[in-house]
Amino acid sequence: MQAITFASPGGPEVLQLATVPDPVPTAEQVLVRVRATALNRADTLQRRGAYPPPPGESEILGLELAGEVEAVGSAVHGYKPGDRVCALVGGGGYAEKAVVDARMLIPMPEGWSFTQAAAVPEVFFTAQETVFVLGGLKTGETVLIHAAASGVGTAAIQMAREIGARVLVTAGSADKIQRCLELGAHAGCNYKERDFAEWIQEVTNKQGVELIEDFIGAPYWERNLRSLKTCGRLVLVGTMGGVKVETSLMLLMSKRLQVFGSVLRARPLVEKIAVTQRFCRDWLPLLASGRIKPVVDTVFPLDQAAEAHRYMEENRNFGKIILSV
Ligand SMILES: NC(=O)c1ccc[n+]([C@@H]2O[C@H](COP(=O)([O-])OP(=O)(O)OC[C@H]3O[C@@H](n4cnc5c(N)ncnc54)[C@H](OP(=O)(O)O)[C@@H]3O)[C@@H](O)[C@H]2O)c1
Repeated sequence: MQAITFASPGGPEVLQLATVPDPVPTAEQVLVRVRATALNRADTLQRRGAYPPPPGESEILGLELAGEVEAVGSAVHGYKPGDRVCALVGGGGYAEKAVVDARMLIPMPEGWSFTQAAAVPEVFFTAQETVFVLGGLKTGETVLIHAAASGVGTAAIQMAREIGARVLVTAGSADKIQRCLELGAHAGCNYKERDFAEWIQEVTNKQGVELIEDFIGAPYWERNLRSLKTCGRLVLVGTMGGVKVETSLMLLMSKRLQVFGSVLRARPLVEKIAVTQRFCRDWLPLLASGRIKPVVDTVFPLDQAAEAHRYMEENRNFGKIILSV
């Protein structure tokens, strides 16, 4: 099969289309003919050599895919060749074929394109696990979502809106803020033009927010703690701005704050299956009915994976970047 590979870590130019052996499914897996996959920030880190795949996972980039079942392992029930599915995978999406544990498969809703389906698993699973399972967002609470124009951000905005939370966002341009408002955010701050912590004081009448979903890390740490209400919760989902902080612990103690961290890829299969089941139960019906939509920015053909990586690293996307296979 054809797949995107790289011989040594580096910039986007290291990504090349190459011929590699087809993956072979185990008894519990299905072989999927991939029709679309999507980019994630983690792919750019892996390409640079900073985020190796967990043991046993494919070395090929790609954490999610949509396609048709081509063959099923001997212990798989409920799927047959031709079924249209999408899934979160530990790697292997940037290829014509990939293997997926059958319990990780999500049947594609009627009428969906492979492009739409490939834009769903990573960002909706992440938003579900961080905003709701860990962060415990409830109706009537206020959530601040940073990097809100990211793939994960665009999913989180819609899900938080859907349960009746007040959604405040940060993003790096007026256009991105406007598009977040169209998805259901109530107000936005261009973090390049003003300090988001001052803005939060203003828009919350000096109350702060109950929950912060953060992808930036170190440079936002102290301002995040200041922006939380007493007993507020901070969920750390990414560290695009840096990982090291020097901090006074007094703010954490005196405001009785809670801080959570989360990753998805490194979790054991049994946990990822539980995440998939929660998603199919709680959120897939809202996606299938069209109330919540995957936000697709651009579709590149697989052989232009390097161009797609450049586009992501220039922060040009609003929502997901797809590779059609
Ligand atoms: N922990 C997990 O389970 C998990 C799972 C999936 C993703 N993630 C993380 O979630 C984050 C979003 O991923 P994604 O694939 O959805 O991202 P994405 O679509 O590539 O969007 C990222 C956006 O973040 C903003 N940004 C980048 N660097 C920034 C900085 N230093 N300060 C402020 N804003 C910055 C940019 O928008 P602006 O133009 O607004 O600056 C950029 O477009 C990443 O950190 C990723 O690693 C975590």
